[in-house]
Amino acid sequence: MLIPHSRPVFGHIFEHAVTQIVQSGQLAQGKATTILEQHISQYLSVPHTLAVDSGTSALMLAIRALTNNKALARIGIPAFACASLVFAVKNAGAIPVFIDCTKHLTLDAEQTLMISKTLDVLVLVHPFGMVEPLVQEHFACPVIEDIAQSVGATLHGQQVGTFTEMCIGSHHATKPWGGAYGGFIASHDPDLIDKCKAMTNPDTANLSAAYIGHHQLSSIHAVLAYTRIQQAEQDYIKRASWIKKYDALFEQASATPISGITNSQANHFRYIVRCEQDIANIIPLFHHMGIRVARPIQTPLHQSKVALDAWQHSLSIPVLADMSQAEFAYLQQGIQTCFAS
Ligand SMILES: Cc1ncc(COP(=O)(O)O)c(C=O)c1O
Repeated sequence: MLIPHSRPVFGHIFEHAVTQIVQSGQLAQGKATTILEQHISQYLSVPHTLAVDSGTSALMLAIRALTNNKALARIGIPAFACASLVFAVKNAGAIPVFIDCTKHLTLDAEQTLMISKTLDVLVLVHPFGMVEPLVQEHFACPVIEDIAQSVGATLHGQQVGTFTEMCIGSHHATKPWGGAYGGFIASHDPDLIDKCKAMTNPDTANLSAAYIGHHQLSSIHAVLAYTRIQQAEQDYIKRASWIKKYDALFEQASATPISGITNSQANHFRYIVRCEQDIANIIPLFHHMGIRVARPIQTPLHQSKVALDAWQHSLSIPVLADMSQAEFAYLQQGIQTCFAS
């Protein structure tokens, strides 16, 4: 049996939606892109949304808009996060300032509060389906919430993405709001969204502008993304019911689930555990059984002691919305076998 790390399901409803776009003849950015933006605004109750070609572009454009394209702006990002963050910062002509994580993979609060005084922008990533508690704090610099992995999660009943002036997300296939590719920026401030939009189309740009790329989202990608958003609640319910079973399994296993902070409701699209053993020894055991566990990130963005420790001891286990009972039984066997060794 093979259990992949991700398995987004695209049924007839996706096929039908894509066929309609092809038949309409409007495959590039069009009405479907606007509909996606409306869906996102409505879901987050944030009035202004811009759909773009990726989550990485969304972050890069948001940084450029918030810093007014300032050269060498200092942007705070987590050391334990996906590589896209560092590339988004570099593509904005800015400097990444790395902030350490805790054992729970959220940010070190003391360090963040201290470093934030020196930053132009702070990016708070809600990690791996969970909530970053620092969104409740007040910072002197502007803050972007990155909800690529955690859209749908809440803290005290409030949606992630609604705590600060701006949020970004991703429609990459493996994400909770995954279609194929794509991303979005949402804000209460129409000027910020207008600034981002002005940087998405070279054909209409002022040639003296500091930066413009081709960052519109095609109608094909938009329709995949908003069809996923319509399915997201059902996917969430299915994953949540598996998560309860995983929690029960891990009561007996030699690894501890990292399940998020008090008063939060996570949207676990992966199940992250901390093992005292080095996971370099555990991953091959799962892979040998055909269970595609992975490290939550490829590599720490900054090699601090704490980020390296998190990297050595954290494991991401697949949570497939459409998992069968037989697959779950096999996964259970894998967890019992690999963590007993
Ligand atoms: C937290 C986070 N932010 C942003 C991104 C970038 O999104 P995209 O892959 O759509 O460029 C990712 C991608 O993995 C991510 O995990």
